[in-house]
Amino acid sequence: MPDLHVVDTEAIAWENGVDSIAKMAPEFRANLGPPEKLEETFSKYNMKLLLSDPDTTKRGERIHLTPGYADLTPSYHDSVEECLLLEGACYIHGEGEFKGGDYFWRPPGWVHWVESAEGFDALLFHEGISEPERSGPSSRRVRPDEECGTNQLHSDHDAAIGPRGWVKRLDTNLVPWQRGPAFARSEGPLQGYDLDHVSFKVLSKNPVVGSQSLLVRLDSSYRQEGPGGHSAAQQLFVLSGSLAIGDRGIPKGGYIYREAGSVHPPMVSEEGAELFMKTEGWLDFLRA
Ligand SMILES: [Fe+2]
Repeated sequence: MPDLHVVDTEAIAWENGVDSIAKMAPEFRANLGPPEKLEETFSKYNMKLLLSDPDTTKRGERIHLTPGYADLTPSYHDSVEECLLLEGACYIHGEGEFKGGDYFWRPPGWVHWVESAEGFDALLFHEGISEPERSGPSSRRVRPDEECGTNQLHSDHDAAIGPRGWVKRLDTNLVPWQRGPAFARSEGPLQGYDLDHVSFKVLSKNPVVGSQSLLVRLDSSYRQEGPGGHSAAQQLFVLSGSLAIGDRGIPKGGYIYREAGSVHPPMVSEEGAELFMKTEGWLDFLRA
C-alpha cells in the first residue's frame, strides 16, 4: 500500500509570510501590493503548508494571522478560493464579517480584501486549475476598491457563480449534521464506512462531478471493517479528536492527502474526531 501524505501541523513550525513571499508563484508575488509595505504586512501572516501542486497550482495552508493584518490591495483570483475559519474574526470587503466556524467557497473573479483587528486562524485553499470546478491558476489580480463584491471575470451570472455556486458566508454551526444512513441515501451506499457512527455536514458541492467539502464527525469507536480506497482524491484535516489509519495515528491538527484510487488500511477513531474533508469526486469507499 502506498504511504499516506500526512502533515502533522501541530508538530511543525509556522513559516512567517516574509519568508513565504520568496516561494510564491511569480504571478502571485508580483501582485501583492506596494513593495515597501510587503514586509510589515506579511510579518503578520503565518503559514503551515498542507499541500502544493506545481502543475495545477492547487494549494492548501493552515494560516495564523496576527492582529492588525490587512491585505494591501483589493484583488480577485483566477482560482477558486476556499476557507474554513477556525478561530478569531475578520472582515472581508465586499462580503462581510466572518468568525470562527464560518466557511466560504468563492468562485474565480470576485474582488475582495480582508482585514482583521483581532487576527484569525483558518484553513485556506486555492483550488488551482480544475475544469470541473471552472477554476483557473492561483493568481492575484489587483483591482480598485469600488469593484469589491463584483465579478471581474464573468458578466454572465451563471458563469460567475460556477458549478458549486458562491457559498459566500456559511455559518457551519447552523448546518445540521446528517447521520450516516441518511447522508448515504443521497450519496450512494458508502460501502465500507461505519455509517452508524458518522455524521456529515455538506458545506459546498459540485452536483455535476460530486466533488464536495464537508465536515465529518466520527463518533467514538468509529471503525471501518477493512482496507479500501476512494475513487477520487481526498483531503482530511483533523479539527478535534484523533483517528488512526491502520497503525498510523493522526492527531488533532493532522492533515492527510489520499490520491485517487490509493488503497489504505481501515480508519478507526477510538475517542471520536471532527474532520474537514475535501473530495474531488463522489464520496465512496471501495473495499480492497
Ligand atoms: Fe483571496
